[in-house]
Amino acid sequence: MRKIFALTAAAAVAAAAVYFVYSSAGGDDATLQRAVLEPGAPLTAVQLPPELSDTAMIGKRAFDAVCAECHGDSAAGRNGMGPPLVHKIYEPSHHGDAAFMLAVRNGVRAHHWKFGNMPVQQGLTDADVKGITRYVRELQRANGID
Ligand code: HEC
Repeated sequence: MRKIFALTAAAAVAAAAVYFVYSSAGGDDATLQRAVLEPGAPLTAVQLPPELSDTAMIGKRAFDAVCAECHGDSAAGRNGMGPPLVHKIYEPSHHGDAAFMLAVRNGVRAHHWKFGNMPVQQGLTDADVKGITRYVRELQRANGID
């Protein structure tokens, strides 16, 4: 019980720190880059949806196996490695679902951030990528991005 409390408290402190860094200078992309965080630390505090659709649940498995290395658990981003996909620049009207397929198939030349290029991701079927996209969309929606 005490351990759970300690973990919850630690998570709350971490979330507050991220919120502080994010909010105090307007939360622009450059601010995320400058955040003083451990390498690999999450860049946003992602609110998890109460439940995921079946497709999103399958997508989560592929995301965790392939994308989370750079985009972080729950697509919260990883300091020095990759941007959060739970971010307003990746809302559906700016980066539609096709952008996910293109990113996986062709890779991405760095243009929004300073993490470097995203390499082509091998070994994923179209269905895998659609599942991943659904997972990210459900995370985005739970965080007011839609
Ligand atoms: C080796 C690190 C790495 C891995 C692994 C990775 N990405 Fe990325 N990804 C990046 C970086 C870095 C960017 C940001 C490029 C920029 O805009 O500066 C990015 C950008 C993106 C974008 C935005 C594309 C656009 O049009 O701007 C999408 C969508 C995306 N990634 C999806 C994925 C998915 C899905 C996976 C897993 C199948 C994945 N990424 C795996 C590093 C990675």
